[in-house]
Amino acid sequence: MIDPFGRRISYLRVSVTDRCDLRCVYCMAEDMTFLPKAEVLTLEELDRLCGAFVGLGVERIRLTGGEPLVRKGVLTLFRSLGARIGAGGLKELTVTTNGTQLTKMADDLYAAGVRRINVSMDTLDPAVFKAVTRWGELEKTLDGIFAAKSAGLQVKINAVALKGVNEGEYDRMLAWCGEHGFDLTLIETMPLGEIGGDRTDQYLPLSLVRSRLREHWTLEETDYTTGGPARYFTVKETGRRIGFITPMTHNFCESCNRVRLTCTGTLFMCLGQEDAADLRRPLRDPAVDDAGLRAAIEAAIARKPKGHDFIIDRRHNRPAVGRHMSVTGG
Ligand code: GTP
Ligand code: 5AD
Ligand code: SF4
Repeated sequence: MIDPFGRRISYLRVSVTDRCDLRCVYCMAEDMTFLPKAEVLTLEELDRLCGAFVGLGVERIRLTGGEPLVRKGVLTLFRSLGARIGAGGLKELTVTTNGTQLTKMADDLYAAGVRRINVSMDTLDPAVFKAVTRWGELEKTLDGIFAAKSAGLQVKINAVALKGVNEGEYDRMLAWCGEHGFDLTLIETMPLGEIGGDRTDQYLPLSLVRSRLREHWTLEETDYTTGGPARYFTVKETGRRIGFITPMTHNFCESCNRVRLTCTGTLFMCLGQEDAADLRRPLRDPAVDDAGLRAAIEAAIARKPKGHDFIIDRRHNRPAVGRHMSVTGG
């Protein structure tokens, strides 16, 4: 699938639920209204849709949420998607998770074909962790991370850079990741959805973080890429990588390879734009066969915009995109 700007779309992010057991302050409001269950696609429907994308050339699928591992029965979906790896056309199946369910699920994820996972952990301080997630226990996420490592999964830690919150911790986190063999990605907070607070208070430009890190670490340029938005450096002292995701200061849209599917079957062609295609209607229409479903996807890809426009409307302190990241899965 090639979009109107000549970009090959080979990567699908699927948000399997908008629900989460945590409420990170940059992601959700405390009192979220979640989607009624009737609107959510079944796991079989999600598998069929993913199959259509793989049929059109998607090589990598990442399951996200919300928290993907709190969706009941989600391992069935991992298994059916995992069966598409190899001759089925899929090259990689991954997941982005907050880690709370990993002690129970890491071995099953590995058995289903997952090899690489991203775990969101913004701090190594239990009190700060509780404040950021509103009620989360750091210990549970750490246990999950080590369960994943023991299961043989390669772990990348995601930390959203939050001014005045985890700002003093990146040196420690980089050292900790080096010690345990994990890569680390720092992410600029993006203005998506109402969170019941002031976004401009949280924003910390990563250009500043990077120059501070360089006072203690040797960051070597590398060509390594997952095809995603992160720019990676090798940390000479640890041998691990550090990635920086800087949507607010450096636009990487020209090499975008991805689209996003929500758990209701809505396809967002860009994280930072509202335009979307409804794939649930053709999916549930008995008159539409797999070829028809693929045609609906191709028509949507033909509408993929050139790039995002993340802006914080400072006068009204309102994000330009009203949708929460938990709906589209980041
Ligand atoms: P891989 O590239 O698959 O290794 O993972 P990733 O780092 O892209 O995925 P992950 O789910 O860990 O997301 C990390 C951060 O990147 C999240 O904050 C996402 O919202 C953000 N992100 C992922 N893709 C895009 C994108 O296309 N545009 C923007 N602006 N942000 C993105
Ligand atoms: N800005 C940047 N990153 C975010 N995430 C969730 N909400 C935001 C936001 N507003 C991150 C999570 C997770 C990844 C999928 O997206 O921390 O690591
Ligand atoms: Fe849940 Fe992830 Fe959002 Fe935190 S960032 S509330 S863990 S979906």
